[in-house]
Parts: sequence; C-alpha cells; structure tokens
Amino acid sequence: MFANLKPQPADKILALVKAFREDPRAEKIDLGVGVYKNAEGTTPVMRAVKTAEKQLWEIESTKSYVGLAGDPAFSDVMIDLVLGDAVERSNVAAAATPGGTGACRQAFELMQMANPDARVFVSNPTWPNHTSILNYLGIEHVPYRYFDADTRGVDFDGMLEDLKGLKAGDLVLLHGCCHNPTGANLNLTQWQIVVDVLNEKGAIPMIDIAYQGFGDGLEEDAAAARLVASCVPECLIAASCSKNFGIYRERTGLLMAVSTETSRQGLNQDTLAFLNRQNFSFPPDHGARLVTMVLQDPDLRADWAKELEDVRLGMLGLREQLAGELKRLSGSDRFGFLAQHRGMFSRLGTTPEMVERLRAEHGIYMVGDSRMNIAGLNAQSVPILAQAIIDVGV
Ligand code: LMR
Repeated sequence: MFANLKPQPADKILALVKAFREDPRAEKIDLGVGVYKNAEGTTPVMRAVKTAEKQLWEIESTKSYVGLAGDPAFSDVMIDLVLGDAVERSNVAAAATPGGTGACRQAFELMQMANPDARVFVSNPTWPNHTSILNYLGIEHVPYRYFDADTRGVDFDGMLEDLKGLKAGDLVLLHGCCHNPTGANLNLTQWQIVVDVLNEKGAIPMIDIAYQGFGDGLEEDAAAARLVASCVPECLIAASCSKNFGIYRERTGLLMAVSTETSRQGLNQDTLAFLNRQNFSFPPDHGARLVTMVLQDPDLRADWAKELEDVRLGMLGLREQLAGELKRLSGSDRFGFLAQHRGMFSRLGTTPEMVERLRAEHGIYMVGDSRMNIAGLNAQSVPILAQAIIDVGV
C-alpha cells in the first residue's frame, strides 16, 4: 500500500514557516504565514481568552462528548457575531468545525452532496488551500478575475465579466473581509452588485470570513456577510475564530447554512451534523467553549473587543508607516495601495524572482506571490522592508 503513495505538493505557506526557522540570520523578517504577531514578534494568548481558560479550569466537570454540531451556545454566539440580526436565527443551521478550514471543507462537501455537478468559482487569487481542498475533493473550480495588477485594487469589471459564466447551482466563494492573499476588498456597493448577479444566475454565495475585526472593525467587517445573507435565498458562511480570538491551534470554526425557507433548517442542520460525523465525528470543543464564554460575558467581551481593536489599529499604523516610507524612498505614490488594503495581508504585486531576492539578499520572507503578512512587521522593521523593496527594484 505505502509503495503506491506519491509525494503531495508542499503547502507554499507552511513551507515558508520551515524555511524561516532554518534561516540562521538574526535580522530575518517573517512576513509569511497568517499569524498575528505583536511588536515583540510573539503571538500572545488574548487577555479575555486567558481569563476564560482559568474560569473553565475551575468549572469544567467533564470532558465527555458534546453534540455532533458542537455546543448550540457556540453556534448562537457566532451567528450573532457574524450575522447580527441580518437573518432570523430560525433560518440558520450551524455546526462547529475544526477551524475555518474545516468549515470550508464541510461547505464544499455539502455542495457536492446536494449538487454534484456544480462548480466553485474562486477569486484569482485566493487562499491556496481553497483550491487545494477543491482539487482533493475532485470539485471543478473556475477562477474569476479579482486582483488588478496595476492598481493593486479589485478588478471589479473583470470579476463581473467572469461571473457571467455562472450556471444555476454553482457556488461562488467570496472572502467576507480582508481578502487573503491580496488585502484588496469590494466596497458595499460592489457587494450589492455581486449579490444581484448571483441571484440573477441562481448561483449560491459561500462567504469565507476568517479575519472579522482585522479590517475596518468587528461590525464593519461583517457588513458584507450580512448583506449577502439578507439578500439571497441560500448561502453558506464559513467563519474562523483562529485569528480574531488568537486560538489558532484550538481549531475553532463554524459553518452556517442560511436559507430563507425556515422549513429547510431541520434537514440542513441534520446534514451538517452528518457531515461532521463522517469526517471527524465531534468537533473540537475547547476553543469553541472559550469563545462562547468570552462572547457571553459582557466584561470579557468588552476586553476582547478592545484588544482586537488595538491589534487592528496596530496593523493599520504599520500599513501607513510602510506606505509613507515607500513614498519617501520612491518619490512616488505607487505604494499607496498598502494603506488602502485591509486585514493581515497585502499583495505587493511583484514577481517571484523579486520575492526570492528579498529572501536571499535581505532575509525577508513573504509568500511567492508577494503576499506580505503586515502583522509580521514592527516600527523598526518597516524602514528595513521599505529599503529592501526599493533596493531589489520593485
Ligand atoms: C494563511 O493564509 O497564512 C493562514 O490562513 C494560515 C494557513 O493555514 O494557511
């Protein structure tokens, strides 16, 4: 059996983690994997999460199974966080999953189960694991134009043109906020236009929202998901708690299936539970429980929201500093997009060769498509990065 195994393609983002670790240079800068780092370069446990963990240690009396869809209280707080009052709770089926990746995987499988011939339209580019999972599941995916290489903003006309190729039942994967890997996002007027196109075509939106609170604020970052959920007959939403609660390794996510037909909720809920059972049985509980405790307790919630806001503002400050530094060094506004982008990432929009030179000559690690994790910077490393970008001739 093992003799038949073939090497699988290495995940480009995770390969960078290893390469960075093995680089002996003290001055190296890690702008690779999407993990938040503070100015000291560490990824702290958030204060409210730590407090909830202490409380949980005191009160938790069993580690027995919960439910196949996880604790309904987790679903409730997350539906509220992401969707607010955009839709009736009775129209949402939800299941906890191992991280946002697990939610995406279950969403694709649900689509495949319901509509085996449907395709998934994905932004070009998208998070590489989206297409990797789709390939693994044998689901056809179709890229739609998204990133404008000249402006480093959204190629909205190209996107609309490509969405014309949708057929009824196709799924359209959209990043709810903080597009990964580009950092370029639609505005709400554009979202409404996309929703109208999807409704006209009978296509189903799937929102991947992994960075709520990292872009323009907790409410602002949920606005697109809320708009979509309130304007379409059906949609899927994959939410991650990895980044905004800083609980990466706890694998905490939620898949929501929203339908305007309340009568479908029961079957949708059973299907999500069934899919969990087939893939991993019960979802991880620890992170979900912490999130539930934080969101249910007004003091913990306020403290979490404050810390998250500080994280967001810190990243915005770094963006502005970097754009300003590059403006000074280049004598032009051509890097202004860095301050316009939102979330953890920006795509610099340069060649793999330049990215390789940044790594080899300056010890600066970014993904080969020139995606930079802005949270990997601090006030001292921004000028170093800016100078390196100019030196290699970006
Ligand atoms: C990223 O895009 O870097 C993160 O979502 C981490 C991952 O799993 O790829």
